[in-house]
Amino acid sequence: MTTGTDHWLSWGDALRVLFVSSEVAPFAKTGGLADVSAALPAALARAGIDARICMPRYGSIPIPAPSSLVRESGGEIVETSLGDVTVWMVDHPGYFDRPGLYGEGGRDYEDNLERFAFFCRAALAWCRQSGWIPDVVHCNDWQTALIPVYLKIAHCGDPDLRDVASLLTVHNLAYQGVFPAERFSATGLPPELFSSAALEFWGKVNLLKGGLVFADLLSTVSPTYAREIQTPEFGCGLDGVLRERAHDLYGILNGADYTVWDPWVDELIPARYSAADLSGKAVCKAELQREFGLDPAPEAPLLGVVSRLTDQKGLDLIAACLDRIVAAGAQFVLLGTGDPKYQDLFRNAARSHPGSVGVRIGFDERLAHWIEAGADIFLMPSRYEPSGLNQLYSLRYGTVPVVRRTGGLADSITDATPDAIERGEATGFVFVDYTADALWTAIERALAAHRDPEIWSRLVQAGMAADFSWDRAAAGYVELYRKAVERRRAGRDFGDRGYGG
Ligand code: ADP
Ligand code: GLC
Repeated sequence: MTTGTDHWLSWGDALRVLFVSSEVAPFAKTGGLADVSAALPAALARAGIDARICMPRYGSIPIPAPSSLVRESGGEIVETSLGDVTVWMVDHPGYFDRPGLYGEGGRDYEDNLERFAFFCRAALAWCRQSGWIPDVVHCNDWQTALIPVYLKIAHCGDPDLRDVASLLTVHNLAYQGVFPAERFSATGLPPELFSSAALEFWGKVNLLKGGLVFADLLSTVSPTYAREIQTPEFGCGLDGVLRERAHDLYGILNGADYTVWDPWVDELIPARYSAADLSGKAVCKAELQREFGLDPAPEAPLLGVVSRLTDQKGLDLIAACLDRIVAAGAQFVLLGTGDPKYQDLFRNAARSHPGSVGVRIGFDERLAHWIEAGADIFLMPSRYEPSGLNQLYSLRYGTVPVVRRTGGLADSITDATPDAIERGEATGFVFVDYTADALWTAIERALAAHRDPEIWSRLVQAGMAADFSWDRAAAGYVELYRKAVERRRAGRDFGDRGYGG
């Protein structure tokens, strides 16, 4: 995708974009979506877009003050800000004042359909009520996927909202918001939309599918994932729906927020450093070893992982390599939370390898930064990875990533072939087959490179110099917003498919 031209950027100056997301850092975060939802609107604002954020106010977020409270169908909108960007929070204690975002103890909340349908309706109702009518609503994942449906169906005759365009970004196709058929009425949509051409999927309600059918444009978070999800292997059952909209589907790789994730400005790490002077990185490594109870061995290669513990992330491959990692004289640290089977697996591994393997189960922002800074090598052997942020952060911290060639990992890491090292382009180690042996071969290559200071320095320097800043991605989104608005104003699209609107 090309970046915005002057023409588009000047056109974009007047654009109003409502960015709707179920998580936004630092207010609420379970994964990369939160980082994106904070950094992208800020980059859009820098590009001259009038971007505002809308999210739920979860119980963990204190009611911001000063706030402007507006009653809205059983909830309220609370206004705060993130940098220069206005944030509107949908406050409905009955739905959102709970310990988790989507569930607790590994179980989703029973009423997630009602919760997020309410969130979507409240976001649109607030636009009408406040008079701030966006040109585009940028929706993210299943929690916001009803918005395009409401715009096309419920608001098609509404003079305020009928021209509002929608873009739906898929951050992870595996999460679709699937609910029993008998709950469909909670969407407030006409019963005929519970059909295979709309929100019905194998006899159930599928919110993401509704968004994929009704949004003016679709995107996902890397070009490779945009292609992958149109195949049965990665399509999670929705590849047919996505192939039908192939011409409306774009892939824009996520960026990294270097105001938060850069060892030169990072306030959470033990010592700051830069590409020109890496001495602080050695301090970070020693502190990380101490924090995780590892032997204080400056020379031992230290491999790190920060991850949601889910089947997506290739944790079974890592576990299968741990004995070999330790036998090779390397150390390993992991920070993560999620599936109990992985939590147990890695807790046990730490017990089996005291001094060499350190594991922390939990969500800890500070330790995530510590691992990025203190490790030598970062492992991301994902089964699939829509974009991935941690490999981008690793590059900036001089922590060489070992990744599987899928999704955004394929689009961001250049394998350390002799040629690529020679040209100064290599930034990591890439493997293809989803097997422990393939991962181990890549780790062995990384360990061999680590023993050669000159080669290692080339890898570290190339990674630290790589630029994945958000401004580039933001220019891509500005283009998509413009296209979405054109689509909407041309009014084709769903009229053709018999949905009115
Ligand atoms: P995903 O969104 O699939 O989890 P990403 O690589 O896009 O993967 O983003 C993960 C984000 O969540 C990163 O900012 C990472 O540091 C953070 N993260 C994941 N697990 C933890 C954890 N246990 N503690 C702190 N931060 C975490
Ligand atoms: C999802 C994906 C991850 C991506 C993040 C933000 O959680 O798993 O690859 O970076 O969303 O887009």
